[in-house]
Amino acid sequence: MLRGVDFDVERGSVFALLGSNGAGKTTVIRILSTLLKADAGTVDVNGFDVAAQPAKVRESFNLTGQFAAVDEILTGRENLVLVAKLRHLKNPGAVADTLLRRFALTDAATRKVATYSGGMRRRLDIAMSLIGNPPVIFLDEPTTGLDPQARVEVWRTVKELAEYGTTVLLTTQYLDEAEELADRIAILHKGRIIVNGTLDELRRLLPPAKVEYVEKQPTLEDVFFAVVGENGKNDENGIADQSDEDRKATPKEKEER
Ligand SMILES: Nc1ncnc2c1ncn2[C@@H]1O[C@H](COP(=O)(O)OP(=O)(O)OP(=O)(O)O)[C@@H](O)[C@H]1O
Ligand SMILES: [Mg+2]
Repeated sequence: MLRGVDFDVERGSVFALLGSNGAGKTTVIRILSTLLKADAGTVDVNGFDVAAQPAKVRESFNLTGQFAAVDEILTGRENLVLVAKLRHLKNPGAVADTLLRRFALTDAATRKVATYSGGMRRRLDIAMSLIGNPPVIFLDEPTTGLDPQARVEVWRTVKELAEYGTTVLLTTQYLDEAEELADRIAILHKGRIIVNGTLDELRRLLPPAKVEYVEKQPTLEDVFFAVVGENGKNDENGIADQSDEDRKATPKEKEER
């Protein structure tokens, strides 16, 4: 049940809906994407009314759901080609190859998705949602369950989307994710938006204890990245290849070497 959910997302910006399990994030996304009807209120997506012009709304967005919707039996490339064909694009192969490059999946392109890691699936899932260049993208918890490197990769993708002019609405349970990505953040709690603003505006609202929590999180992440390596993406031998000394060294010490 949602009440008092009222927000605007500026074109070409990233808007984060932040909330814990059961807060109503997926419900909001389902309403925005015409999968669920709101019993009250009005919703516009890309200037179209969700209730009155559902077809126009559906042409305006792509959705990456909370759980990856990729086909395990197909290769990454085949998944992309399939969606490009479904959308009647002219050169499905070329579209697929461009996206594979953009999402650093070229090397894995001809492997069955069943062999992909969670992060690779997520990237493929997001890549699929970009086919046809929709003006609006909904991402429901794009990084839940991903390791820190894969999260950083998804973050990079979302930032790129915004740079390309796409309007992104994402949901997340992570404070630091909203902080990293969003131009505006709304906190959804028990079906109600209790705060909505820019990070600076929210910072001024949050009690100091919460701010301290935000500052603590990256410290552990710093340690993690220092030990595992910041660019561990797709590098299956990343840790094994490092010498013991390397593993212990902080990034700063490494720089000095
Ligand atoms: N189809 C449904 N019928 C009845 N209640 C539902 C239905 N779907 C969700 N709910 C309830 O609505 C509330 C919000 O659920 P929702 O899935 O939107 O949360 P969420 O913020 O996406 O949570 P999570 O982080 O776990 O994905 C929950 O209390 C849930 O039990
Ligand atoms: Mg959800």
